[in-house]
Amino acid sequence: MPNNKGVVYLGPGKVAVRAIDDPKMVDPRGKTIDHAVILKVVATNICGSDQHMVRGRTTAPTGMVLGHEITGEIVEKGKGVEFLDVGDLVSTPFNVACGRCRMCRAQQTGVCLHVNKSGLAGGAYGYVDMGGWIGGQAQYVMVPYADFNLLKFPDKRQAMAKILDLTMLSDILPTGFHGAVNAGVGVGSTVYIAGAGPVGLAAAASAQILGAAAVLVGDMNQERLKHAREVGFIPIDLTKSDDLRELVRDAIGTPYVDAGIDCVGFEAHGHGARAATEAPATVLNGLMAVVGPAGRIGIPGLYVTDDPGAKDESARHGSLGLRFGLGWSKSHSFYTGQTPVLRYNRQLMMAILHDRIPIARIVNATVIPLDEAARGYQEFDRGAARKYVLDPHGLLKR
Ligand SMILES: NC(=O)c1ccc[n+]([C@@H]2O[C@H](COP(=O)([O-])OP(=O)(O)OC[C@H]3O[C@@H](n4cnc5c(N)ncnc54)[C@H](O)[C@@H]3O)[C@@H](O)[C@H]2O)c1
Repeated sequence: MPNNKGVVYLGPGKVAVRAIDDPKMVDPRGKTIDHAVILKVVATNICGSDQHMVRGRTTAPTGMVLGHEITGEIVEKGKGVEFLDVGDLVSTPFNVACGRCRMCRAQQTGVCLHVNKSGLAGGAYGYVDMGGWIGGQAQYVMVPYADFNLLKFPDKRQAMAKILDLTMLSDILPTGFHGAVNAGVGVGSTVYIAGAGPVGLAAAASAQILGAAAVLVGDMNQERLKHAREVGFIPIDLTKSDDLRELVRDAIGTPYVDAGIDCVGFEAHGHGARAATEAPATVLNGLMAVVGPAGRIGIPGLYVTDDPGAKDESARHGSLGLRFGLGWSKSHSFYTGQTPVLRYNRQLMMAILHDRIPIARIVNATVIPLDEAARGYQEFDRGAARKYVLDPHGLLKR
């Protein structure tokens, strides 16, 4: 595995593909491990979560190798790996999880208790505060606790034919699904999804497969709204009004929905005339306004404890101007946190393999070479209606 290279964060607004160390079976504490594999990365996607770091909106250190959406082929395995083999094609959940702690046993792999050297709960590849695991926007990457974490595709040739769908299993499809399940979406539900980015579209596709009657997707980005309409969802143009209930009523005849999903997070902007201004509590307050009594609100959109780029002092420490009394008075439930990908990825793989969820088309998967990652980051940051898939070894169809 000569000349590994990967996408490195160089400071706000800057990423570059650089030579990086070959992966070793050593954990971030420096301990040699035998439960890991080395993957040749076949597909690795750029995520909205990466953008929070690259925009300088987290405390991510410079020099970090990015990338937590990883699909690859095993090229080496430690002697403690029992059930996987060299040559297997696998999806890697973005969560690093030990498979042994109380949280992992309860399928809460997003808050594994053993994989974060800072003592926090939860680990991920190439992510700030998530344990120091090296990122996978690279040619090769190490995956620990491989037997537990990795999802093997049953048939390599069949998987390569659907690889642009299957690459969404490492994060955004389970994340959208988690948002929809936690929002209580079922047959006949009406659902409002904030954000027409890839996670919002994955939540919309998930709501559809769960049986929703009407799937509304709100954003201010006209290109993304147009794309959302083209792939079968009801677009809500938030530049038109700052009253979300009015926009929902115009779309479905009533100002309330059964379920709401936040696929935006802390970099949310205001609605209507305030669409150009950042307003981090807008999405959550809007969801409390439109979700009906006893409704549930799924919140995959990311919120942070420290935001160095926030406009005001309280937001800098993750404090938002929430109208919590409104949600309380309606008996709302809120579901936050990193998605435990392992809880959903096998079922969603089966849905993809049996043509039940064309997620690559829905998120407009767009393949670019690893060397052009910086362009992908820039275009995604400008709001392109695309999900960028990096191709480190030239194995994907463009
Ligand atoms: N919980 C998890 O495990 C998990 C996993 C993956 C991504 N995420 C998070 O999900 C969020 C979405 O990810 P993405 O890749 O789709 O990001 P993205 O940045 O591409 O999309 C966010 C969209 O929200 C829109 N937006 C801004 N303010 C809005 C508002 N008030 N109402 C509606 N839309 C608004 C933006 O125009 C943009 O199109 C991010 O915060 C990301 O970090 C969480």
